[in-house]
Amino acid sequence: MTVSSLAFRLLILATFIVPSIAQAINPADCASSVHLLLLRGEGTGDDLNVLDTIQNLVLEQIPGATSLGVPYQHGDSDKQFAAYNGSVLLQQYIAGYATTCPDSKIAVLGYSLGAVATMNAICGVSSLLITHAVEALDFKYASNVIAVVAYGDETYVPLQSWNVGNCTIGAGIYPRLDPGACEPFASSLKSYCDYGDYQCCSILPDDANAAHHTYFTKYNQDVVAFIQSRLG
Ligand SMILES: *[C@@H]1O[C@H](CO)[C@@H](O)[C@H](O)[C@H]1NC(C)=O
Ligand SMILES: *[C@@H]1O[C@H](CO)[C@@H](O)[C@H](O)[C@H]1NC(C)=O
Repeated sequence: MTVSSLAFRLLILATFIVPSIAQAINPADCASSVHLLLLRGEGTGDDLNVLDTIQNLVLEQIPGATSLGVPYQHGDSDKQFAAYNGSVLLQQYIAGYATTCPDSKIAVLGYSLGAVATMNAICGVSSLLITHAVEALDFKYASNVIAVVAYGDETYVPLQSWNVGNCTIGAGIYPRLDPGACEPFASSLKSYCDYGDYQCCSILPDDANAAHHTYFTKYNQDVVAFIQSRLG
């Protein structure tokens, strides 16, 4: 490395003021296509859990993709805090990544508790029983964040343009009162919710919540195609 390129890199490091988690991002590691951020459902253990399935598909099928299981507090017994922590961490991560890697695109997928955290990070909190407030993501990130996918979101409400799946009239157990707050990101959003998933489709009769566990096998390939189409 020449002295001037080193000086240039130091200048970049000194100039960009980004949230702490983003300081871990090395500009050399920016995705040449899309960076996939994954927020798993509740439970202890690693940050991917069953989301390794969608991670593998994206890395196999989209050249230049990178991915990360967002290390939020998915194992915390306080689900309200866990979702809040995931939303804040995701917003910080998006802001930091967009600053360090302005030419990379970002896709987000959240499942279950991770879907709540994801949708709240994009749209802000507007559910009566969710007490920790989060503001909507700044619209200036709309050109960076090209896809936001929810699987089995407990804040699901019917009749939204981004809804996918066969839950047409049910709602999540923490229904979103102001889905209009998601509109600025509508072209990036897809929220998958099937009949039989009582967490996102709670009015309809449940079948032991089986549908909450079939999104991966049913929709992963659709999600890859959606990300590819959004990459243009
Ligand atoms: C969320 O959890 C992470 C990881 O433990 C922690 O570093 C961060 O401070 C927490 N943020 C909030 C807002 O709770
Ligand atoms: C809706 O999707 C679930 C989960 O795949 C499936 O079990 C169910 O049969 C579907 N229901 C209808 C009415 O299509």
